[in-house]
Amino acid sequence: MNDVICAILNRASEPRLTAPAPDQATLDAAFQCAFTAPDHALLRPWRYLVIEGEGLHALGELFADSLDANDPNHAERCARVRQSPLRAPMIIVGITSYREHPKVPPVEQAMSAAVGMGYLALALDAAGYGAMWRTGSPAHSDVVEQGLGLADHEKISGFLYVGTVERAKPRVPRPEVADKVSRWPHTDQ
Ligand SMILES: Cc1cc2nc3c(=O)[nH]c(=O)nc-3n(C[C@H](O)[C@H](O)[C@H](O)COP(=O)(O)O)c2cc1C
Repeated sequence: MNDVICAILNRASEPRLTAPAPDQATLDAAFQCAFTAPDHALLRPWRYLVIEGEGLHALGELFADSLDANDPNHAERCARVRQSPLRAPMIIVGITSYREHPKVPPVEQAMSAAVGMGYLALALDAAGYGAMWRTGSPAHSDVVEQGLGLADHEKISGFLYVGTVERAKPRVPRPEVADKVSRWPHTDQ
């Protein structure tokens, strides 16, 4: 099997991450990989924010600001979400920057952004770092979007938590090919 196939087969999301985060050269190479995502009409409908250090605390504050203040468990939830960005030394925010195009509906632009996030995670994993794509309600919050400076035509595709793997998680079982793949039209065998 070639290196690319091995890297894909060995990729895993890693939730337990610690410092160091990737160095700039590794990060640049991973972004170049993300930029090879298939992209109908070459709209480049994506961009990324890299957050580290104090920025992670500021992101936690934004997450807390996005919660419903009328929730009876508000204080406890705020305390929890403030901590959540601190689970990794770096977070890369993937953003879909939707553009008007007669042949490329928004869903195709979101798919291109998603493929980019996948390539980014794969490249970082292959370079020896851990990454985990997370969303949750903050990824769909106006407060978080505004706090991160997104324009009206932009949405968060996800938060990629990135760092050095502290403890690898158990392997996620993958489906059997026959369970997910068939021929069409069906052939009798
Ligand atoms: C769009 C998207 C959002 C996700 N959001 C979360 C999340 O908020 N929390 C979480 O635990 N996993 C989330 N996941 C799943 C993990 O990133 C990961 O894929 C999953 O745990 C399976 O692990 P694996 O990638 O090693 O197969 C999300 C995946 C995608 C594609």
